[in-house]
Amino acid sequence: METLSLTDEAFEQWIAEHNERVGVRVKQALRTPYSFVEEVATYLVDAGGKLFRPALVFAAGGLGLESGCVNEESLVSAAVVVELTHVASLYHDDVMDEAALRRGGPTAHRKWGNSVAIMAGDFMLAQASLLGASLGTDFVAYQAQTLSRLVQGQIAEMKGPEPGVDDLTHHLFVISNKTAALIAAAARYGATFAGLPPDQVEALTQYGERLGMAFQLADDLLDIVSEESGKQAGTDLREGVPTLATLLVRRQQRDQDARLLELLAGPVADTDLPEALGLLRVHPVVDEARAHVRRWADEALTYVNDFSDGPAARTLRTLCERAIVRTS
Ligand code: FPP
Ligand code: MG
Repeated sequence: METLSLTDEAFEQWIAEHNERVGVRVKQALRTPYSFVEEVATYLVDAGGKLFRPALVFAAGGLGLESGCVNEESLVSAAVVVELTHVASLYHDDVMDEAALRRGGPTAHRKWGNSVAIMAGDFMLAQASLLGASLGTDFVAYQAQTLSRLVQGQIAEMKGPEPGVDDLTHHLFVISNKTAALIAAAARYGATFAGLPPDQVEALTQYGERLGMAFQLADDLLDIVSEESGKQAGTDLREGVPTLATLLVRRQQRDQDARLLELLAGPVADTDLPEALGLLRVHPVVDEARAHVRRWADEALTYVNDFSDGPAARTLRTLCERAIVRTS
């Protein structure tokens, strides 16, 4: 434990240094004498992720620096578990989305086949569980609940809304489980190992849940509006996966959208993709979807506004703004 009062710049550096440790520890966690498994499992790790979730663990964890209650070892271990879980979910997700590109390179299943890619994800989850065991039963239980939500969110996305359930409500259920759950867990673990009291741990969890919603809605919008994400543009459209923007188009049923609605009726063929993207990029739903991102980010903010001003609290607030700026 150490007592620290840092400038914003030094705190950013503190997060960056801890993220570097996470990078090393993730690779360590994936070591196995069976080198093929290690090769497949480290493939996406080596392709370089943003380490957003670990950074969130540390941003929340920083709230305990001034009181000197931070358990840095546990913070790093929790961040490693979160990152391993996230990358494992990407191996699975890319198989289900039949995605060709991830982190700027071919996806694992394109290189080694679906079964190997899925098993590599399972291997990562197993290694994450092993490390999680060192953090206590409360951590293991929360992580199990989080995984359960991830899987249910993904299944709900594939299955579509139950009869009588509104498609937007269903969509929000999907992203809250498949994405917001792990981001909420990251913020929660940071707060927990910062030694914060239970009400603050809960506030950080609620913050993470809403930041996660903003984050996924922004990501889905980038799939439409961005041309340089390291992923193939329009993947959701190609797979016929509804996202907020396409749901809003469908809901509005405007006469002038006849061609777009026809294109969005099912998975968009590669040859139709430029036309569908072109029509969507100039459509008012883009701004409407941005407004949704803003609302979730603003709600997230309400959970961290009461923390006394310091570098960690400011970083947590800045993350809300960044979720919005990403889509602008
Ligand atoms: C990316 O979503 C994927 C997720 C947010 C997680 C998906 C969850 C699973 C695959 C359940 C299985 C989980 C584990 C831990 C094995 P996206 O497709 O919207 O984003 P993308 O554009 O990055 O592909
Ligand atoms: Mg995907």
